[in-house]
Amino acid sequence: MRGTRTGLRTLSNMCGIIGYVGEQPALEVVLSGLRRLEYRGYDSAGVAVVGGGVLRTARRAGRLANLEKVLDESGEQMPGTTGMGHTRWATHGGPTDVNAHPHTDCTGAVAVIHNGIIENFAELRSELEAAGHELSSETDTEVVAHLLEIEIARAAAAGPAASSVSSGSVSSGFGQPVASEHPVTEALRVVCRRLRGAFTLVVLHRDHPGVVVGARRNSPLVVGLGVGEAFLASDVSAFIAHTREALEIGQDQVVEARPEGVTVYDFDGTPVEGRRYHVDWDASAAEKGGFPYFMLKEISEQPEALADTLRGRLSSEGAIVLDEERLSDQDFRDIDKVFIVACGTAYHAGLIAKYAIEHWTRLPCEVEMASEFRYRDPVLDRSTLVIAISQSGETLDTLMAVKHAREQKARVLAICNTNGSTIPRESDAVLYTRCGPEVGVAATKTFLGQVAACLLVGLFLAQTRGVLYGDEVAAYVDRLQRMPELVRRTLGTVEPVRELARSLADAKAVLFLGRHVGYPVALEGALKLKELAYMHAEGFPAGELKHGPIALIEPGLPVVVVVPSPRGRANLHGKVVSNIQEVRARGARTIVIAEDGDTDVEPYADHLIRVPATSSLFAPLVTTLPLQVFACELALARGLDVDQPRNLAKSVTVE
Ligand code: M6R
Repeated sequence: MRGTRTGLRTLSNMCGIIGYVGEQPALEVVLSGLRRLEYRGYDSAGVAVVGGGVLRTARRAGRLANLEKVLDESGEQMPGTTGMGHTRWATHGGPTDVNAHPHTDCTGAVAVIHNGIIENFAELRSELEAAGHELSSETDTEVVAHLLEIEIARAAAAGPAASSVSSGSVSSGFGQPVASEHPVTEALRVVCRRLRGAFTLVVLHRDHPGVVVGARRNSPLVVGLGVGEAFLASDVSAFIAHTREALEIGQDQVVEARPEGVTVYDFDGTPVEGRRYHVDWDASAAEKGGFPYFMLKEISEQPEALADTLRGRLSSEGAIVLDEERLSDQDFRDIDKVFIVACGTAYHAGLIAKYAIEHWTRLPCEVEMASEFRYRDPVLDRSTLVIAISQSGETLDTLMAVKHAREQKARVLAICNTNGSTIPRESDAVLYTRCGPEVGVAATKTFLGQVAACLLVGLFLAQTRGVLYGDEVAAYVDRLQRMPELVRRTLGTVEPVRELARSLADAKAVLFLGRHVGYPVALEGALKLKELAYMHAEGFPAGELKHGPIALIEPGLPVVVVVPSPRGRANLHGKVVSNIQEVRARGARTIVIAEDGDTDVEPYADHLIRVPATSSLFAPLVTTLPLQVFACELALARGLDVDQPRNLAKSVTVE
């Protein structure tokens, strides 16, 4: 008996994965890749290396540092140039050593790491146990190792002729062509056909050094193409220090990587071509660059990130340019309603987009949390445009909303920061935010990129549909292009916000109020504070407060109010000033974010944070900044890790 089965269900998700095959010591490559991937999950970590006819594994609960310490202290040598590693984020059950990846089969010859959920694992597990297999962990992943054990043995018993489906007929991503499908590759694709759910799998076999095999369905997997080496990873940051050449792996595909080449098959064994691309940022972009935390670096990078999102968006003919467009202008003219689907911070960007899209295009626009979208059976058809916003391009809730929309024949436009990720690949048109890698779990610079991208999409729709003239669009773009400078100026004035945040480190709760586009900004400020400082924080439409939440106000409660411009939205401005007075009259400590020159708020602001004046729809690009700084500094004052807040992961690849 290798272990006991408990009733506890432990699933593995949202993890960081790296596989390596080449000439370098695999353990070093894998550990350095895991350091870059740890933001994807940090409940436990593990590695496996094949060398000298031995498959060695090591795994530990907790952060990667725990595993590295154990490896250092034990002096464990893991020689070999074929290896893989995993950082885990679990949904159920304890993140223990036993549940950490890699998982192995009964013989100890097969090792598997996994990201996603295998939904039918319980029935597969019962089947395996009935056949005499002993499973030691509570994970869904372990069933794959045992299924592979069976499949590899079956193919070996059947003989070489039966175990290769495509001899000589291959697609090599780079280097020399590879001769024929490897037995582990064949076994993996056969096993994958039995799995339900979402998964990225990477597999090593003790008897097959020099080969690492991966597969994906609804979960990310990208290949790094080096010279005499290859990488399989959750995202390019894992191998960016080694190569910037990458290969996309499509849905329901298996990839076999060897030092001399990479071969991709579909789950039926038919060779397929992957799409190669060059990563347009380098390893330094994914390093802290002298900042103590990625989040601080990423906040400071916002002027450049915003400028990169906006760069080159107006063609010489004066038209807004998307990055990919598989729809005609007529398709866009036929649109009669817009849905925006997204999660978390991206959802807040979508809420801001609604104001711009409705104002500029006169199309009705609804914004919906992606996790709710498909379950309420929304009314969609080919004249519906669904805009999916996702930094990672892998958020499963958003991906499933996209798939549902496409099944209903709706058109899908993706706003995404990650080239080669799944959501843009599943969409009809794409606008990339080009903010570079964002490592801190809290979205900062990519939020600004998303807001700017939404504004561009609004202008694109208005122009294509003939609602705005070319010169009007050009004037908006011109004003947008001045925003990075205003962002830089705003970031230069946030020191008092840091001081204020430190003084509130012991506060129990903070409320955030806003109206119009200030309302999503309030929601974003509250989300940042929740996820970073673990503090109760809520965002409300300022006008809604009197319908209930005002009962929460008690003496000393910090209330942040995002004030609209007195010039752009004069009627709204007056109402928000009244709302500030309402909470102050009940003892709240008011923290007011208002544009330069707005003197009306001064009598009612216990703390006044100034931002540069700009047009109403662009204001979130500056009003959000003090809120990011506020949450980050308050969390640091509480002694918390702002890059890897508890319970979270950067890319949420489960529903
Ligand atoms: O990768 P996505 O933009 O699809 O991620 C969506 C959310 O999970 C994400 O914005 C999350 O809310 C952030 N941690 C917020 O800072």
